[in-house]
Amino acid sequence: MRLLALSSLLLGPTLALCASSDNWKSRSIYQVLTDRFAMADGSSPSCDTSQRKYCGGTFSGIVNKLDYIQNMGFDAIWISPVVQNVEGDTGVGEAYHGYWTSNINNINSHFGSSDDLKKLSSALHDRGMYLMVDVVVNHLAAIPTNTSDIYPEPFDYSTLQPFGGQSSFHTQCFISDYNNQTDVEQCWLGTPSSPLIDLDTENSTNVDIMNNWVKNLVSEYSIDGLRIDTLKHVRKDFWPDFASSAGVYTVGEVLIDNTTYASPYTQLISGVLDYPTYFAVFSAFTSTSGNVSHIAEIAQQAQKQYKDPFASGSFIENHDQPRVQSETSDQALVKNAITWVFVNDGIPILYQGQEQGYQGGSDPANREALWLSGYNTDNKPLLTHVTKLNAARKAAISSNPNFLSTQATFHVQQSSSSSSDTHGIAISKPPLLTLLTNGGEGDSSTVWTVPGNDNEGGGGFEGGQTLVDVFTCEEVNVKSDGSVEVTARNGEPMVLMVKEIGEGVCKGSGSGSSNGASGFMRMGMGMGMGVEVGVVVGVMGVLLGMVVI
Ligand SMILES: *[C@@H]1O[C@H](CO)[C@@H](O)[C@H](O)[C@H]1NC(C)=O
Ligand SMILES: *[C@@H]1O[C@H](CO)[C@@H](O)[C@H](O)[C@H]1NC(C)=O
Ligand SMILES: *[C@@H]1O[C@H](CO)[C@@H](O)[C@H](O)[C@H]1NC(C)=O
Ligand SMILES: *[C@@H]1O[C@H](CO)[C@@H](O)[C@H](O)[C@H]1NC(C)=O
Ligand SMILES: *[C@@H]1O[C@H](CO)[C@@H](O)[C@H](O)[C@H]1NC(C)=O
Repeated sequence: MRLLALSSLLLGPTLALCASSDNWKSRSIYQVLTDRFAMADGSSPSCDTSQRKYCGGTFSGIVNKLDYIQNMGFDAIWISPVVQNVEGDTGVGEAYHGYWTSNINNINSHFGSSDDLKKLSSALHDRGMYLMVDVVVNHLAAIPTNTSDIYPEPFDYSTLQPFGGQSSFHTQCFISDYNNQTDVEQCWLGTPSSPLIDLDTENSTNVDIMNNWVKNLVSEYSIDGLRIDTLKHVRKDFWPDFASSAGVYTVGEVLIDNTTYASPYTQLISGVLDYPTYFAVFSAFTSTSGNVSHIAEIAQQAQKQYKDPFASGSFIENHDQPRVQSETSDQALVKNAITWVFVNDGIPILYQGQEQGYQGGSDPANREALWLSGYNTDNKPLLTHVTKLNAARKAAISSNPNFLSTQATFHVQQSSSSSSDTHGIAISKPPLLTLLTNGGEGDSSTVWTVPGNDNEGGGGFEGGQTLVDVFTCEEVNVKSDGSVEVTARNGEPMVLMVKEIGEGVCKGSGSGSSNGASGFMRMGMGMGMGVEVGVVVGVMGVLLGMVVI
């Protein structure tokens, strides 16, 4: 892992081609809404989310703010769909989010030029970071040519390119029965007044167009991974060829609170955005009466049912769901919710603005412009929290070669009284032992008890070892039988690691000067490993990489 990490850092552009699931598993993704992340000129115009209009963010704006992202420890970004969208007001605003394609062969000029996108891609690769692009296959969009609200809506289908007119699309019908998969796949999303025109993905000409398009898109812009929109709205057997045409890691949106429904999709592409676990975690940590046992139940189902749970996307916010802080202002709960994302099996994804404490509710309120925060890194406790979590995960990956294939195990705190008094859940994924509670800011009574190594799911620690909380540097002693018992402090989460590793993480500054390379060195020292050794091993890794290539 260490070899791979450093060699891909130096050989970024070379290895970045055809990044696989395995290349992505050690990474951590920052989700950027291109229109709302950064202005090209660094300005900070107002952006009223309720207007649903373009606010002006661009590809080159992102390039200028990569330090902000990388300094938090992220080594990949996911950006909005990049292709040309319908122009003007559709009745539900403009296509600033990028999900209303009109022509898959052009770049959305609001975000910049094709060259600007290439520059973003190479700026990322120069830093050893990956580019994930969002793609939409299921539907395109056009403004109805007659808005008298008649049904069916008339469209100028020739605006939808490069397709062949109305016959290229499913006949208009709106999804009415989510238990009927044919209805979900062949009828349309949206409503009569804001329809999404459903591509006929049974038509083999369309299949060829889409497979060739994605192949060219990935190679032209050196894309390392794809986030696939509305995966469950296209027939399952469309996807394997599409994914292999792309030739990179693919993670799909299957918006459902049901692992049994989601899991077949993990057989088709690299992985899914883990919505079932998201729902359990969101509801557990947005209230002190949430159910932490339910997290364990759903996460274990995902572990059993997903083809490769380590390739799924782990998140607690995105642009489609209300933010955590629209539901609770309790900062202890918020920190517990964010911690989950980085300590379970999937690839962590943080949605822009969560680190700044944004509080937007449902779409469009959750799409606040990040420039309004000033990209401030001082006195931003959540930003510091996220930075520590990225560092802890990287240190865990470096110190345990099996970390990325070791399934997390769960211990729900046993409560003497009713289940609503159960707040604590411990998550063991050696060398990390994470202690979460939804007791909230006042909680100093939750006790986490994690059994010793003789027991299934023990913490994996030796009796007598000293552990360190990566957030506070607080020390915890492992009991002689390897068990760990800790009492919560003001409802804060804890991530424990053996002192030799954890100390380097907790002492690292939350913001400022770190970049990929110095972060690596700091971690090397934290592990009691000399910097020189780290660099020598790294150089060997590069040589090795060159020989293999
Ligand atoms: C819009 O459709 C309505 C109902 O079919 C029709 O009466 C009207 O003439 C149409 N308007 C235009 C501008 O085509
Ligand atoms: C299939 O799609 C192509 C390209 O979009 C279109 O030209 C053609 O009419 C469609 N065929 C049928 C049978 O609908
Ligand atoms: C399922 O949906 C399709 C498309 O709307 C429809 O043709 C079919 O009759 C539905 N099947 C059932 C059993 O309702
Ligand atoms: C979950 O999905 C499966 C497979 O589609 C379905 O059979 C089951 O009824 C769903 N469960 C719930 C609670 O909706
Ligand atoms: C909490 O979740 C567990 C596991 O899913 C479930 O068995 C239990 O009934 C839930 N408790 C409450 C109070 O909903």
